[in-house]
This record gives sequence, C-alpha cells and structure tokens, in this order.
Amino acid sequence: MVRSKKFTHSEYKKRLIKTWNEIAPRYHKRWAKNNIGPFKSSSELVKLANIRPGHAVLDLACGTGAITKRIATKVGISGKVVGVDSSISAIKIAKKEINNKTNLDFVLSDAEFIKFNKKFDVVTCQYALFFFPNAQKVLQNIRQYLKKNGTLALTLHGNKDTVPYFSSILDVITKFIPDYIPQGTPNLDRFGTKDQLKKIISQAGFANIKVQEYAFTYRPGTFSDYWQNYLKYLAKPLKEKIKTLSIVQKQKMKNQIKQNTLPYTKKSGQIIFPWRVLVLTAKCS
Ligand SMILES: C[S@@+](CC[C@H](N)C(=O)[O-])C[C@H]1O[C@@H](n2cnc3c(N)ncnc32)[C@H](O)[C@@H]1O
Repeated sequence: MVRSKKFTHSEYKKRLIKTWNEIAPRYHKRWAKNNIGPFKSSSELVKLANIRPGHAVLDLACGTGAITKRIATKVGISGKVVGVDSSISAIKIAKKEINNKTNLDFVLSDAEFIKFNKKFDVVTCQYALFFFPNAQKVLQNIRQYLKKNGTLALTLHGNKDTVPYFSSILDVITKFIPDYIPQGTPNLDRFGTKDQLKKIISQAGFANIKVQEYAFTYRPGTFSDYWQNYLKYLAKPLKEKIKTLSIVQKQKMKNQIKQNTLPYTKKSGQIIFPWRVLVLTAKCS
C-alpha cells in the first residue's frame, strides 16, 4: 500500500485553504445560505450567545458570512461584527452579499494568528473548531480578545455515529482509498461529544460551560441524489483519488455505502439522516 507522507500543521492548513478556496461557492449555494439540516443551528447559536444591540462580535471562521450577517442584524447600527476566515474565496462571497451593512467587516486571517486592538463582547465560531490543528491555541487567542465575562459560542457536529451523512460515505471510502484522508489531518470528530468539547474549553480556562444538543434531520433525496451530490461538491484532489479506482471497485464501494444508508431510507426511497449538533456557550473569566 502506498502511504502518503504525513502532513505538518502548516501543510495541512495550506491544503485546507486551497480546498475552501475551491469549494466555498458550492458550500454557500448548497448549505450555508439555506436554513437546512445542520444549519438550523444558526438561529440557535445567535440566541444562546445572547447577542444584543450594541455588542461587538467576532465571528471566527465565518466562511461565506451566512451567520455573520444574521449577527450584524442583531447588534444593529450601534454594534459591530467582524468576520474572520482564512479563505479569500469565502470572504469574497461574504463581502458581496453585505447589502450595504455598515456595521460589518470581513478580515482574511488564520484563526491562530488573529490580531485586534479591541476586545469583543461575544465570539462565535460555527462548524470550524475541529478544522484547527492547534485548537487550544485558537481558544487562548479568543480569550485574549474577549471582554471579562464575554461569551464564547460554538457550534459543532456530533461525533461520527450521530452524523451518518458523513460516516455512511467516509467509513467506506477510507477502506477503499486508505490515504483519502491524508495522515496528519486532525481527527475532525475529536470534539463531537459533550465531554470532549467541555474538556478542551475548560482546559482553555473558560467558565460556566454549557452544551446544548440538537437532533436535526437532513433529507438528501434518494441514494442516487446523495451520492451524486457528494461527488459534485467534492474538492478536486479527492475527486482525483476516487478516479483511481476501477469501475468494479467503484461499484463495490457504492454498494457498501448504499448499505450504510438503508437504516435511514424510507419506503419511498428517500433518505432522512439524523444529524446531531452541539452548541456550546462559555464565559471568559
Ligand atoms: C464549515 S465552514 C463554516 C463557515 C461558517 N462558520 C458557517 O457556519 O457557514 C469552515 C470554515 O472554516 C474556515 N477555516 C478553516 N481553518 C481556518 C483557520 N485556521 N483560520 C480561519 N478560518 C479557517 C474555512 O475556510 C471555512 O470557511
């Protein structure tokens, strides 16, 4: 078996930036701008973060700005929102859809190296903590820029057993293509339970930690829709890896993926996936 070399943190991040620069438009169109599946969490995050008019809010790893804009509406003209992301393509989409909001800025930066000359009332971060190879360093940074008693509010996917949308495909593909997820990639599942999440947040020195669990659902259509859409939205390097399989292997892989989806497939052929989401709030002491 040919094993790809192990990524260092900076190589992993470079690759992630490239991936997000490629997929941001597709991600925005399919997920972020629609209030579907896990994105039903956006309104919960804004509610639990207790964002009020006049607040200064940092939205870390803001992506295409879907939630950042919601927050801007909430803080009003007396407040301010800064969205930070390391993908220029995501930031461009976010900026394009600002709709003349003057209380909103977007900054291109790695979450590990943010620098501001002011502190925030609230820091939000939706579906991104697991992407940071040094999540602890990012959390220390956040503390530096949160006011005393300021709020940290995070949204994460539940662990893989609770999000079969991901695991139905990935558990099988990684058997057929062992280097599909290259060595050195952080485990994206590592903050997927209440205990794991609370642990890293408390290690970073936050207090009053609360985690709310949600059981959302997502309907990707039939198995064929699910599989075709997965391929359509995939970044090029992964598409290339799938192309290396023979037709027979590909069919075998597809059959095994289909088996995984059967527990969630209705008589009509439509799949309804459960989707666990965790929303954490904590205070900066
Ligand atoms: C799943 S998207 C979430 C975007 C947005 N928060 C939302 O809810 O739609 C993850 C985002 O994290 C960003 N990201 C990943 N690593 C980052 C880093 N080290 N610093 C800043 N942004 C990062 C990606 O560019 C991508 O836009």
